[in-house]
Amino acid sequence: MAILVDADGPILDRILDDTYDTWHDGLTRPAYRRFYAAQVGLPWGRAHLRRLTLIEGDELLASTKVYRLEAVLDDVPMKVAGLGAVFTSPSSRKRGAAKELIDQVLARAIADGADLALLFSEIGPDYYAKLGFVAIPTTDQQLRVTESTRYGAPMTMVRGGDDRDLAAIASMCFTRAEPFRFHLTRDRDLIHFAIARKRLLAGFGPLGAREVHFFIAEEGASAVAYVVISVHGNAWTIEEAGDRDPNGARLGAILQALIAREPAERRPSIRAWLPDGFLPPQVTIVGENVSAELMMIKPLSDRARAAAPLTQADVCYWHGDLF
Ligand SMILES: CC(C)(COP(=O)(O)OP(=O)(O)OC[C@H]1O[C@@H](n2cnc3c(N)ncnc32)[C@H](O)[C@@H]1OP(=O)(O)O)[C@@H](O)C(=O)NCCC(=O)NCCS
Repeated sequence: MAILVDADGPILDRILDDTYDTWHDGLTRPAYRRFYAAQVGLPWGRAHLRRLTLIEGDELLASTKVYRLEAVLDDVPMKVAGLGAVFTSPSSRKRGAAKELIDQVLARAIADGADLALLFSEIGPDYYAKLGFVAIPTTDQQLRVTESTRYGAPMTMVRGGDDRDLAAIASMCFTRAEPFRFHLTRDRDLIHFAIARKRLLAGFGPLGAREVHFFIAEEGASAVAYVVISVHGNAWTIEEAGDRDPNGARLGAILQALIAREPAERRPSIRAWLPDGFLPPQVTIVGENVSAELMMIKPLSDRARAAAPLTQADVCYWHGDLF
């Protein structure tokens, strides 16, 4: 009989060997292991991230990361089981191992009080739809930042962000997300985890291949707007952003300041999942395409099942929280 176990030690190493080709993100194999170990070593990761494995005797059948998250759906706090990196060993495929893994993981999540399961499918909707997940299609926006006519940084006090800004950022996130039907509850530790994970990926990767920009606009001594951007070559991904002011002008000013530092002949392509209705006046959406990561949700409790289906406009979710 196949049983579910926590992956650590030699089992974890075998999973990392198996999944490396699919999810290495440009890291070497030793760096891929260190990257995972560092994430589970972060305060939030230690308490909320596990890797569960379905084994039968000595045979390792399938594995997944499980994130224990909190969210709000229709003003009701919900416990969420986030599934990432679902993987079946090549020799065990097409024998129902991933289905058995997900069934057992969700049964355990329900026993722990979870209301919802959430995942981001890289293989389209069909496989997970058969397991009861419903897709919420999301689009990536491509952004252009209007450059200041003075071709310099605008008059905003911009500095690098750090841990002392996390409380102000959590408060901005909460205010921005509150009107949406579905959003994660992003406390200080989760925001710290999301930013640290991107920094670790950049730090463990080849020198100069990736960078993370974390900047805030300051008024008095506190952060009033911020942005976290992953830079990979000429591509910028806005992992998360916020502005205490609903119109986002100070976020726009930070982006202008960052663009002004780039060589004039090479403007980055910028993609983001901005929450519906949040567009700084200095920013234009120049393109949209269906996201590679398809958000899918499965209600697990009666109160989650009672909610009407979600659309993209109902959801506030940041790239930096993808798993
Ligand atoms: C996707 C995956 C986890 C399925 O594992 P599995 O144990 O073979 O799954 P099951 O036996 O429960 O189901 C097999 C079904 O999955 C389908 N499937 C496998 N890969 C798929 C893909 N890339 N796209 C769509 N369906 C896929 C098979 O076609 C099969 O369908 P069928 O039942 O209609 O024949 C496995 O193929 C895998 O590890 N792939 C590489 C990693 C990956 O892409 N993971 C998903 C990340 S979102």
